Amino acid sequence: MDLLIKNGTIITTKESYVADIAIQDEKIVCIGTNLMMEADNVIDASGKLVLPGAIDVHTHLAMPFGGTVSADSYLSGTRAAACGGVTTVFDYPIQRKGKGIVETVKARKEMCDPEACVDYAFHCCITDLNSDALLDEFEAAIAFGVTSFKCFLVYKKEGMMVDDASLVKILLKAKEVGAITNIHAENPDLIDLNVEKFLKEGKLSPWYHYLSRPEFVEAEADKRAIHWAKSVEAPLYIVHMADKEGLEAAIAAKLAGFPIYIETCPQYLEFTCEVYKREDGRNFVCSPPMKAQESQDALWDAIKKGTIDTVATDHCPFQSYEKDWGKDNFTKIPNGCAGIENLYPYMLSAANEGKISFNRAVELCSTNPAKIFGCTEKGSLTVGKDADLVIYDTEKDFTVSVSNMHSDYDHTIWEGKKLHGYPVQTYVRGKLVYDNGDFVGEPGFGKYIKRVPNK
Ligand code: URP
Ligand code: ZN
Ligand code: ZN
Repeated sequence: MDLLIKNGTIITTKESYVADIAIQDEKIVCIGTNLMMEADNVIDASGKLVLPGAIDVHTHLAMPFGGTVSADSYLSGTRAAACGGVTTVFDYPIQRKGKGIVETVKARKEMCDPEACVDYAFHCCITDLNSDALLDEFEAAIAFGVTSFKCFLVYKKEGMMVDDASLVKILLKAKEVGAITNIHAENPDLIDLNVEKFLKEGKLSPWYHYLSRPEFVEAEADKRAIHWAKSVEAPLYIVHMADKEGLEAAIAAKLAGFPIYIETCPQYLEFTCEVYKREDGRNFVCSPPMKAQESQDALWDAIKKGTIDTVATDHCPFQSYEKDWGKDNFTKIPNGCAGIENLYPYMLSAANEGKISFNRAVELCSTNPAKIFGCTEKGSLTVGKDADLVIYDTEKDFTVSVSNMHSDYDHTIWEGKKLHGYPVQTYVRGKLVYDNGDFVGEPGFGKYIKRVPNK
């Protein structure tokens, strides 16, 4: 054997039990008690949890956005991922006017290949259907391993928005080829009306970022997308859900049997809109913004009841000097925050404190993302799957600081956050990439994951 992990408590979505895990040629080959086989490397995980690596299905690495490029490259972003127990990262290439899907994704794959420290996959954001020609490329995208397409219902001025007719065409085509449509739901016209008013009134602080895109701005777009998805019976994945009204509509559709999936992010579970009143409020500017307490309570309630499917980060950090562009005008702040290294530690710490079970944390951060997005080799500690795993110390206390993160950004909204329990090792396909505070992996080791359509 290449690796034998002994006596850890293995966590699946359903069970927690003490066993040994044997790994050979990047795969889990045996799970059992008192495994006696020879191994090149034996790890004693007594008293520790052994979990499947997290799959962060929502990141924006090296993304041109907000007049700049997000601060984490494929190298630093996936390095940070490894150090937070994330073993697969999904990025969002953006197809631009006149461009194809496969050429867009291929270009980003070429950038990512030599840099990736963990495994990676791509969704593709569609911004221009090229007069419907692009729909004919969906099959080729599937063959390339891209089985999810994202529509921004917002970012109209940025030239990234799709209108409702395009959304419906994409929903239908995605359904036909066994893909899924992801949406960012906010209403740009409502935002523009609010922004115009606040600018005229000289209301320019980050608080007005929130007030220009409050709860109903997100809820309107959530409900519209759900309406269209239901009407054509197509699968829909709502990214970074942050508001109670939209959440309730999505849950109602899901419980009525429609294939509606809901993602939220740690920042919406931890912070409320009150952060925009802080001195450093601009650092928290992201879209959709954090909402009021009522929405946060609804999100936690859905996490506990099982109606939210995934937690992912929307990792899209910018440097302080870039966030400062908007210190006197909230509309100039690049939108996005860091989170890739905080996702799993945050959700596992919530489990360690008894808010949810460890099994549920695994379901939200690993098993469901793998199932929804066709990563057939990932997402659980099962014989035959990739040996992507995290060893977690429930007793280790950790305080997040920019100085103990492994990204390239210079500040984090998670600064000072105290966590009880922390990952001590991360393995990607059996290779140790994170060891007790240090990145020990290798850029370029991460492999492109060709995903399988839902057919
Ligand atoms: O503010 C955010 N979320 N920036 C990244 C792009 C997006 O909308 O997901
Ligand atoms: Zn978004
Ligand atoms: Zn995003």
